[in-house]
Amino acid sequence: MDKLVIRGGNPLVGTIRVSGAKNAALPAMAAALLTEDPVILENVPQVRDIVTERNLLAAMGAEVELGYGRAQHRTTISCRNLINAEASYDLVKTMRASTLVLGPLVARMKTARVSLPGGCAIGARPIDLHLKGLEKLGARISQEHGYIEARADRLTGARIVFEKITVTGTEDLLMAATLAEGETVLENCAREPEVVDLAALLVKMGARIEGAGTPTIRVQGVHKLHGARHRIIPDRIEAGTFIVAAALTGGDLTIAGCDPQHVAALLSKLEECGIHAAVDADSVRIVGGGPLKAADIVTEEYPGFPTDMQAQYMVLATQAEGTSLITENIFENRFMHGQELVRMGANIKIEGSRAVVRGRTALSGAAVQASDLRASASLVIAALVADGETIIDRVYHIDRGYERIEEKLRGVGAQIRRIGQLIPKRIAAAVEAE
Ligand code: EPU
Repeated sequence: MDKLVIRGGNPLVGTIRVSGAKNAALPAMAAALLTEDPVILENVPQVRDIVTERNLLAAMGAEVELGYGRAQHRTTISCRNLINAEASYDLVKTMRASTLVLGPLVARMKTARVSLPGGCAIGARPIDLHLKGLEKLGARISQEHGYIEARADRLTGARIVFEKITVTGTEDLLMAATLAEGETVLENCAREPEVVDLAALLVKMGARIEGAGTPTIRVQGVHKLHGARHRIIPDRIEAGTFIVAAALTGGDLTIAGCDPQHVAALLSKLEECGIHAAVDADSVRIVGGGPLKAADIVTEEYPGFPTDMQAQYMVLATQAEGTSLITENIFENRFMHGQELVRMGANIKIEGSRAVVRGRTALSGAAVQASDLRASASLVIAALVADGETIIDRVYHIDRGYERIEEKLRGVGAQIRRIGQLIPKRIAAAVEAE
């Protein structure tokens, strides 16, 4: 298993480029299931979750063609001959977003068989709202042997009110509704930029959608969708991760190729902490190194402070003067990074959905373990700030959602390298068996 070795203390200086948003590319790839024609996606990040989704679509009979050279971020998906409307447990267990194929499959293939995802490191993460919504659209849902089966000759439009705001739930039902008969009104929808991006792609494919980005989305169903070409939006969480890293390492970093509006909640919180960002049309410049003041955050659905930035913000709170209260409202178990940060010298007390961070404490390098994608990003930031060397284990978590993170950070002055399995697997297994 790969590890990242980071020596802290270097300021980040220069320009770092943001990749396409993983969480926008995943539903966009699933949307290709809705049509027989090719869907061409640009700016698809080269991260592990995208490879998983590619494998998922290929297992259904989709042809997935990758660009190369300068077009390496282009993916062309053709779902003309789907042979198997199934998402297997092996794939779903490694990536919960696989459930995004449920809506498109039942809409186009009249049937879908998708493994039920289990819980994950950050919470239980049920998909009941996806299923209730599909039932409202007329699908018959059954569950057997850990799989959800959904069937419908043709989905019919309905009014669906989400009991709770769900990002992939909104996306799943939005995709299903595009091919349903008549009008669907989705209420209490997620307003995330990734939902808006998906709607933009679907409209290019011939869907009739109004209101994406607001709580109410109206969809007039059509008989058929066609192919389209679409550029995925920049990754706002990757941008936010670099913004926090820049604020803490005391350099002068331009985060290029991002959409500053998508990180507005983070930037306004940083302003409260004493960090001013210079914002351009598609970049954010941060000059770090000044004193930081503690500030509380509460994670919320977009446009509130994102849960996907909570772990990274916690590192910032350890470097701010005073006490910061961090309230996690979206997932019930998303503080695993807290204990690892304590091992690096942070003063953090976790009580249920709240973390109390007392700063400022010096951080010192240590051996730590990544527990999920954003937790690993927070450990990278902590390591960049810490005194001495940090070794982060289980970096496969970070590879799920950050493209070439060590290369990007090295390019702006970080001392970071990846090491692979140090001893041959055969010997490691023998040692473990002893
Ligand atoms: N929920 C239900 N029932 C459902 C669906 C959701 O109770 O049927 C609950 C969840 O348990 C959670 C809340 O609703 O408490 C919100 O979950 P949501 O469905 O919005 O999360 P998601 O769609 O599974 C996406 C992102 C996550 C991000 C969350 C919240 C993708 C592929 N994933 O997950 O991203 O944290 O929205 O913004 O878009 C990440 O990238 O690291 C990541 C975890």
